Amino acid sequence: MFRTLLQFIVFIGFFSSAYAQELSPTATGQEAVYATAGRYGMVVAQHHIGAEVGAEILARGGNAVDAAVATGFALAVVLPRSGNIGGGGFMLVYLAGEQKTIAIDYRETAPAAASGNMFLDRQGNVDQQLSTKSRASAGVPGTVAGLYYAHRKYGLLPWADLLAPAIRLAEEGFPVSDYLAQLLRSRKDRLGVTRAGLEIFYKPGGGFYAPGEMLRQQDLAKTLKRIAENGPDGFYRGPVADLIVAEMARGHGLISHADLENYTVTEAPAVTGSYRGFEVVSMPPPSSGGVHIIQMLNVLENFDLRQTGPGSAATIQVMAETMKYAYADRSQHMGDPAFHEVPLAWLTDKEYARQIAGKIKRGGVVPSSQIKPGTPPAPESPETNHYSIVDKYGNAVSTSTTLNLTFGSGIVVAGAGFLLNNEMDDFSAKPGVPNAYGLTGGAANAIEPGKRPLSSMSPAIVLKDGKPVFITGSPGGGRILTAVLQSIVNFIDFENSVGPAVQSPRIHHQWLPDVLFLEPGFSPETIIKLRQAGYTVKVGQVFTAVEAIEIAPGGWIYGYADPRRADGGAVGLCVEDMAVAC
Ligand code: DON
Repeated sequence: MFRTLLQFIVFIGFFSSAYAQELSPTATGQEAVYATAGRYGMVVAQHHIGAEVGAEILARGGNAVDAAVATGFALAVVLPRSGNIGGGGFMLVYLAGEQKTIAIDYRETAPAAASGNMFLDRQGNVDQQLSTKSRASAGVPGTVAGLYYAHRKYGLLPWADLLAPAIRLAEEGFPVSDYLAQLLRSRKDRLGVTRAGLEIFYKPGGGFYAPGEMLRQQDLAKTLKRIAENGPDGFYRGPVADLIVAEMARGHGLISHADLENYTVTEAPAVTGSYRGFEVVSMPPPSSGGVHIIQMLNVLENFDLRQTGPGSAATIQVMAETMKYAYADRSQHMGDPAFHEVPLAWLTDKEYARQIAGKIKRGGVVPSSQIKPGTPPAPESPETNHYSIVDKYGNAVSTSTTLNLTFGSGIVVAGAGFLLNNEMDDFSAKPGVPNAYGLTGGAANAIEPGKRPLSSMSPAIVLKDGKPVFITGSPGGGRILTAVLQSIVNFIDFENSVGPAVQSPRIHHQWLPDVLFLEPGFSPETIIKLRQAGYTVKVGQVFTAVEAIEIAPGGWIYGYADPRRADGGAVGLCVEDMAVAC
């Protein structure tokens, strides 16, 4: 009841801009609307045009998977920093008919020619230029195969209809936002390494796009048309595959025709846990996110967070200590399950969580140097973005997709018009040496041909009595786990509606470095208490952007696009066949 009241107060504030925002193809380019309400569906994405495209598909009778496919391809056009066809991702689908959640894995894969020491120089040190900015940093892309798989198995509308908006946006262009204009200006060194990148993202002569000017991507439009006509064969075989392999030949690249043809999508049951009477489902390995979010929730269940309250030093201390144990375990136990046995049942076990909770004393801070990864009892046998979608059939989709760093490797496949990922940096290039996110790992996540690098992407769905009530996920590399965790804790423990659950300042601790990161917004008294308790506290930058949906009792659906990253959008359906916010 309290939550419902709060929702009305929070959302009424946003209605003036969201009200009666009718969608049509010409609606693209409107200002972002970060929060909105709907009754028959909702799409929340990191670019509002992506959300508008998805909502339009829902309004035409498509289901949440159709909308996810259309949004995914649209984001590959309008959100070049992480929307992609040259990367990979994870999609969690709650199927209302079967009341179950499945996890689709279309993560990039190490090419057959990859090897454990491929990023080490002669002295045995990790060459970060090679692991993040070279053609060798690209894993075999999975997005096109993944979206096709999801559509073929669970979609309703024709495939080509779902690509049509993306093709139109690439061909006719879309208006460059302030945020994108600024990003392109600041990343010219990265995007300008290939001639194709310069030609696409800069004006003839190298000039910058001003906000409001149209960015057209003709090569990308051609590639998308091939995918629309031929499905995955339009990407993994034929002219586009030839262009990818030709790009590899320009230096250091490893992806071959065989790698592209052999790419496979996997589907598995979601990893599941429970938290204070709610069910939480998320992505199994090669995501580390689902397992560790459930592990952290299991630990937190031993503490009365409602009593210590949101944002208090006491709550932050319990959460930060919990995070340290989870990230220590991540460094040792997590990797691609096809190559390494992940002790999943032990990591998500309530008893193991109780043991960790026993080590967390109120007010006590254990230095990271004294925290080691746990030991399972015995071997068991056997620049990302997120979008969340709910449809009128009761299905829900939670998708995280990425090129890894902002604009991936920065390398555009000449003639094909898309950026390649640098996901190979998510492997542990050398045991104990941190990757671009400061995350360390070992043998479990070492580079091997055909293996998928460990990911932090954690699309998640919270259910009550078998039905989704909260859909969440975020970009942010290693910080994704803690961002998604906090959105869930805010929703469940502090009874926040989706707006404050997403917006409240977040903390992050990843064991190593032994630093407690705080977003701006915590009180000076809290920060002093945390420093006095023994934490090295850094207050500053935000990295994550939670794109979430709440389904409230009574059928109202609330969407909230995290304003931490500009351009996001939430678009709801108020009447069954019209993408209009109520
Ligand atoms: O899969 C991973 O964990 C990373 N490649 C995610 C990258 C990411 O979130 C970048 N976003 N800011």
